[in-house]
Amino acid sequence: MAYFVACLLASTSHSRLLPVARASASAVAAIGLVGAAGAADLAAGELLFTQKCAACHAGGATTSFGGNNLSLKALERNGYATQAELVSLVSNGKGLMPAFGASAPPFARFDAAQLDNVAAYVLAQAAAGWK
Ligand code: HEC
Repeated sequence: MAYFVACLLASTSHSRLLPVARASASAVAAIGLVGAAGAADLAAGELLFTQKCAACHAGGATTSFGGNNLSLKALERNGYATQAELVSLVSNGKGLMPAFGASAPPFARFDAAQLDNVAAYVLAQAAAGWK
């Protein structure tokens, strides 16, 4: 909601707020896409991220293992900047990152809603610079 408010404020001719408006717009775009795909739950996604991803990706970094981080720049460069691409990556894993989809062991497996939620959270955070 804060994003929408910032966006509305910035679009009413306060040009010095424009950078904010741009950052907010991409966050809103990420959330908007998700909405169209079926209302992802960002709070649930955040909880999942904390429980299952943060050990290796605290604050959007990729700690210990090296490799690519979760910044918007890296996601765009590597082709993971959309909801569908992210869901696919998290399902299948990559390099040293484990899979969380159908091929994961039952205790580590995400259902479709969980995949959607965590992907939406990552995209929203990446769009907001993991602040
Ligand atoms: C055991 C550590 C580990 C866990 C747990 C883990 N990852 Fe990763 N992840 C990695 C590593 C290592 C890479 C880098 C792979 C590479 O670039 O070859 C990576 C890469 C990624 C990327 C791609 C970044 C890019 O730009 O290429 C995304 C997105 C991602 N992880 C999201 C997640 C999410 C979401 C979760 C939780 C559901 C998660 N990861 C759990 C280790 C992990």
